[in-house]
Amino acid sequence: MLKSFDVAVIGAGPGGYVAAIRCAQLGLNTVCIDEWENAKGRPSLGGTCLNVGCIPSKALLESSENFYSSVHKFKDHGITIEGASVDVPVMISRKDKIVMTFAAGIASLFKNNKVTSIHGKAMLKNEGDQTAEWAIEVKGKKGAETIQAKHVIIATGSTPRQLPLIPIDNDRILDNTGALALTEIPERLGVIGAGVIGLEMGSVWRRLGSEVTLLEAMPEFLMAADQQIAKEAYKIFSKDPGLSIQTKVDIKKIKITKKKGVVVEFVDADNNTQKLEVDKLIIAVGRVPNTAGLGVENLDVKTDERGFIIVDDYCRTNLTNIYAVGDVVRGPMLAHKASEEGVAVAEMVSAIEKGEERQYEHVDFNTVPWVIYTSPEIAWVGKTEQQLESEGINYKVGQFPFMANGRARALGEAAGFVKVLADTTSDRILGVHMMGPHVSELISEAVVAMAFSASSEDLARIIHAHPTLSETLHEAALAVDKRALHI
Ligand code: FAD
Ligand code: NAI
Repeated sequence: MLKSFDVAVIGAGPGGYVAAIRCAQLGLNTVCIDEWENAKGRPSLGGTCLNVGCIPSKALLESSENFYSSVHKFKDHGITIEGASVDVPVMISRKDKIVMTFAAGIASLFKNNKVTSIHGKAMLKNEGDQTAEWAIEVKGKKGAETIQAKHVIIATGSTPRQLPLIPIDNDRILDNTGALALTEIPERLGVIGAGVIGLEMGSVWRRLGSEVTLLEAMPEFLMAADQQIAKEAYKIFSKDPGLSIQTKVDIKKIKITKKKGVVVEFVDADNNTQKLEVDKLIIAVGRVPNTAGLGVENLDVKTDERGFIIVDDYCRTNLTNIYAVGDVVRGPMLAHKASEEGVAVAEMVSAIEKGEERQYEHVDFNTVPWVIYTSPEIAWVGKTEQQLESEGINYKVGQFPFMANGRARALGEAAGFVKVLADTTSDRILGVHMMGPHVSELISEAVVAMAFSASSEDLARIIHAHPTLSETLHEAALAVDKRALHI
């Protein structure tokens, strides 16, 4: 007799494990199948985000920022630290411990919520009575088993996009996994792609002392961000003589030299051919949906031309009771987006099973916050100025610099600003863009405001504690009506 479940979740990243927990909370008999193994060959729940993404990158960003501050920033406070040095293996093992603790934490959450956890590779199978149950083969270390489930949530995530010029070996040519596991500081680090991973990984190793060159294909820096923020960020990052960002490059060749360096040949923005020699090269040119070996073709689950599983607003695929969430479907490739989709699907499945007739939830991409953990940090929610212009929407702008914020001055982190964009007629907030200290945290207030359809006046009339960084958002909201007080 095959094991049978109400719900089978494939993938235990932030999309899958959150969906599984929510399903179980709602009383559904749930299994979550995940194939991830850590460097020691042990199962490690949490997907890309926990194992080689969000969490380890932030751990290293924090360590490297501490080192950088101790060498470069503490002296402004009158603190001198002689002979500060970095022990990279200790830094990496701290990061690994954080990852292991959280992976074990997810296993405990599964246990506490009675989610059955199976380690192995799942493949959708075309067998059995598919109107009642779907069949999934799971291949693990101990062999293969087939399970059945009435509902299937695919949350198989994404993998790094490769360049056809050279394969990733995670020795000289690194993807995010390799970039998060270096055991020494490369003297010269090249990064292809000045996107989110390129900037964050480049920041880690730059702060530790590497000379970093980012090579970006697009003509403008950070095309997805508000261009005023992107330009200001470019200006700030370019002040560092150890960091070079070249846009509008065309990569022609990548070669490993006899001395085990890497040479990148490219045509620059002025049409000149250049050669860059580095010790390590990170390739961070985007990620692709992961459906390898999942058997989507066995069931004819529809995918688009880029390999994303096609879903509707409610994450339903073309097949009854098969859903897909997270990086494997359209929309921003962000952990919180994946988790919210997971919760929405779990609640929909529960409603279907209980015969409840109600409006299903869906994720509003317009209120999904973005954060880039550079120094200063960049964060935004809603529309950029260029999007509003291209959509012909009339808007007002309110802006306030961290330079005029007392808390930012006290922190010694006064670069950047906050910008609020509001509809000219209704005053409804359409977008908020930030660069500066801890904006990864400050953006939440803007998300709440937008989720509740607030106007800039609503934000302007809310009391903000003094002295806090949040006063910068308050002042930017006041500035929409040309009544900022401290500038
Ligand atoms: P994933 O996290 O990729 O998880 C998918 C899981 O499914 C994996 O464990 C995989 O092994 C498993 N799987 C796949 N196929 C099968 C199969 N057939 N059978 C069994 N298991 C399978 N996002 C943020 O929001 N904030 C950040 O700060 C951030 N930082 C990042 C930093 C880096 C370096 C990277 C690479 C990404 C970062 N992201 C960040 C993006 C974030 O990691 C992803 O958006 C998120 O992990 C997507 O979640 P997911 O559940 O869809 O997929
Ligand atoms: P990305 O899409 O952010 O950036 C890739 C960059 O590479 C782009 O700027 C692109 O123009 C450039 N590029 C593409 N092909 C190129 C080529 N041949 N030569 C030179 N440049 C080229 O993708 P990235 O950085 O790989 O990250 C993937 C995703 O992971 C992000 O989009 C984001 O969704 C997620 N992520 C989120 C983080 C966060 O929330 N803080 C951190 C890291 C990743």
